[in-house]
Amino acid sequence: MDLSSYYMDVHTIRQESIQLLSKGKRFADATQEKKNIPYFDIAYQGFASGSLDADAYSISLFVDRGLELLVAQSYSKKLGLYAERIGAINVVCLSSDAAARVKIQLKRLARPMYSNPPVHGARIVANIVRDPNLFDERKQEMELMAGRIKNVRRRLHENLSQKDERRSDWSCILKQIGMPSYTGLNKAQV
Ligand SMILES: Cc1ncc(COP(=O)(O)O)c(C=O)c1O
Repeated sequence: MDLSSYYMDVHTIRQESIQLLSKGKRFADATQEKKNIPYFDIAYQGFASGSLDADAYSISLFVDRGLELLVAQSYSKKLGLYAERIGAINVVCLSSDAAARVKIQLKRLARPMYSNPPVHGARIVANIVRDPNLFDERKQEMELMAGRIKNVRRRLHENLSQKDERRSDWSCILKQIGMPSYTGLNKAQV
C-alpha cells in the first residue's frame, strides 16, 4: 500500500483491517492537520481480534481527540443479520447545535431514498444489545469466530508453504487479520 498517497486522501478510511488500526494515530494526525471529517465503514467489528472494543480502537482514538466523525455500521456480520439489511450511521458532533443540523440533513437524505426503513432487524439488534446476557453471549461467539479465523489462517499458511514448490513467502496470510486476505495471486495463479 502506498501510504503516503493514502494519507493524502483521508476523507474515507475503511476499517476492514486491523492493519489500518495500527496506523490509526497517523491517520488521526493527518485528519486533524487537514481538518477533514473522517468517515469509518465498520462491518467486521469483533471478527479481527474477537473484541468489539479492540476492533473499534481507531474510532475511539478519533473520538478521544475530540474530532467530529461519521461511522457507518453494518449488522450483517456483527449479529448475523445479513438478510435483514440492518445498519446504522452514527455521527459524532462537537455541539448539540451541530448534531441537530446533521440530524435534519440525514432525514432529508433518508426521506426520498427509503422513507421508512424496515424495522424488524433494528428490533433484533436492540433486543440483543440491551440485554446483558444476550450481548455477552454474542461477544463470546465473536471471540470463538475470531479464534477460528486465526486457526484457518494458520492451516492455510502451513498448507500453502508446504505445497508451494517455488517456496514463496506466505507470511502475509498470518500477518493479515480478519476474514479477507490479500494473497498477491493473479487470476491465472488462482
Ligand atoms: C467494509 C464493508 N462495509 C459494508 C459492507 C456491507 O454490509 P451490508 O451487508 O450491511 O450491506 C460490507 C460487506 O461485506 C463491508 O465489507
